[in-house]
Amino acid sequence: MKIKGSTNIVGLIGHPVEHSFSPPMHNAAFKKLNMDYAYVAFDVDPSNLKTAIDGARALNVKGFNVTIPHKIHVMEYLDEIDEVAGLIGAVNTIDFKNMKGYNTDGIGAVKAIEEVTSIKNKNVVIAGAGGASRAISFYIAKYGADKLTILNRNVEKAQNLANDVLNSNLIGNVAADSIGKISNCLNDADILIDTTPIGMHPNIDDEAIAKSEDMHSDLVVFDAVYNPNETVLLKEAIKAQAKPVYGIKMLLYQGAESFKIWTGQEPPVDEMEKALRETLKLQ
Ligand SMILES: NC(=O)c1ccc[n+]([C@@H]2O[C@H](COP(=O)([O-])OP(=O)(O)OC[C@H]3O[C@@H](n4cnc5c(N)ncnc54)[C@H](OP(=O)(O)O)[C@@H]3O)[C@@H](O)[C@H]2O)c1
Repeated sequence: MKIKGSTNIVGLIGHPVEHSFSPPMHNAAFKKLNMDYAYVAFDVDPSNLKTAIDGARALNVKGFNVTIPHKIHVMEYLDEIDEVAGLIGAVNTIDFKNMKGYNTDGIGAVKAIEEVTSIKNKNVVIAGAGGASRAISFYIAKYGADKLTILNRNVEKAQNLANDVLNSNLIGNVAADSIGKISNCLNDADILIDTTPIGMHPNIDDEAIAKSEDMHSDLVVFDAVYNPNETVLLKEAIKAQAKPVYGIKMLLYQGAESFKIWTGQEPPVDEMEKALRETLKLQ
């Protein structure tokens, strides 16, 4: 890929950004499709966020991904917010064509799960009530789940998220409870989503939020943690002959959705996954 006078710039703003997997993933996609684009990471101090957005607009940047700590505040500087991103209250993608913000994190998780099973009419249990859970919960509702149960250590936080999802009118049945109740909830669940950092490197030997005895072979188990690839929870899922869905797929599909928004083209997901695996040093 040669940088030329005509090269279109897309990128990431966050603080910090140097460990991001997005530049190699997107640049591999542009190379594969022979597109005149380059993806760059920009470390933007929170005090410079507005200047960065105004500057990028003036420099004819085509699109940004947005990561911590800017996902909420950046909405102030956009002209339009996608409906579900507005419900979530955070954006991770900006399209400079119309200064519109989107949240592709939740779509990424939903697409990862839908490689294995449809979400429509399913009974879904989600552990955690932080940023990732919020993004995923609204998309689980949008994709037609029948029931969503949000389990968290801090139950009040789970209840607040459950109320917000219920108020969206995207789903009629949302419950909240303590994460300690997980084994009761899994008997009649179709999909379990873990958005807690339990099992994330270096804590790979943490106790999983659920054990194989709590699971059944029709259960789909998705872990948002992508390092290690096979977390303690996914090991338990495999032991129960349940179907594992790996966190790397959420990273992949959130990037693929952003790529579509910026370029209007179908992303080469196999090439993007290969680049992600190389960066994460996975097989
Ligand atoms: N694959 C991907 O593309 C992707 C994208 C985004 C995030 N993630 C992963 O998702 C995870 C969560 O990210 P986030 O941004 O949502 O974080 P967050 O906003 O800090 O939320 C973390 C959640 O996990 C719960 N939690 C933390 N430690 C716990 C413990 N020891 N036991 C039980 N619950 C615990 C917290 O419960 P309390 O409310 O009770 O504190 C909270 O609900 C991270 O591991 C991140 O790497 C993956």
